[in-house]
Amino acid sequence: MSNDLTFVHRFEPGNRLEASPLLLLHGTGGDENDLLPLGEAIAPGAPRLSVRGQVLEHGMPRFFRRLAEGVFDEDDVRRRANELADFVVAARSRYGLAPPIALGYSNGANIAAAMLLLRPEELDGALLLRAMVPLREAPKADLAGKPVLIVSGKSDPIIPPSNSAQLAAMLSEAGAEVQHRTLPVGHQLSQADLTLAKAWVQGLRHFSIRHDPEKPVAASG
Ligand code: MLT
Repeated sequence: MSNDLTFVHRFEPGNRLEASPLLLLHGTGGDENDLLPLGEAIAPGAPRLSVRGQVLEHGMPRFFRRLAEGVFDEDDVRRRANELADFVVAARSRYGLAPPIALGYSNGANIAAAMLLLRPEELDGALLLRAMVPLREAPKADLAGKPVLIVSGKSDPIIPPSNSAQLAAMLSEAGAEVQHRTLPVGHQLSQADLTLAKAWVQGLRHFSIRHDPEKPVAASG
């Protein structure tokens, strides 16, 4: 854990310096420790930057405020997505990282989707597990060629299928190479999520040579 960058986080350099780094973003009530094992399982050896959300909802960390379940404070989404993007810029410089691929679950997937729409240049792609539309009105983003995998749950009580389909359409219209898969599960993650995510990462044509060789990869943050 490190306090000199603006978000509490952990950085694990991994042993595959050439692999794209992962930006790990937890769900409501999680923290920076949660997704480290999932990241390692999906992309073994890749550098992992895992961040804790700065909003507390009844003591539970999140990445932005919500007014009710699935109803977001969109001004806060904008502000927090920009702050997270600024943190990613600082962390990349500190650890010598290429733009990461976001791996987010639930609230973490939603802030990753907001980052894609608001600060597309800071992410190389995104793996969004149980994501929904983070902003009803977003600026026109250029996501040309960026790979995005959205994995939804068919019986997710929080995210209606039309909402995740709308997110997939928004990102596709902005030029992203979107794959949207729906599993016969709810909001919780399943083994099938892991299988899909691993296959998607392995298929990324640019999941290699993403480390900036000019800069050293520092020890855990
Ligand atoms: C959100 O608030 O981002 C979504 O409702 C998902 C959740 O965190 O429950």
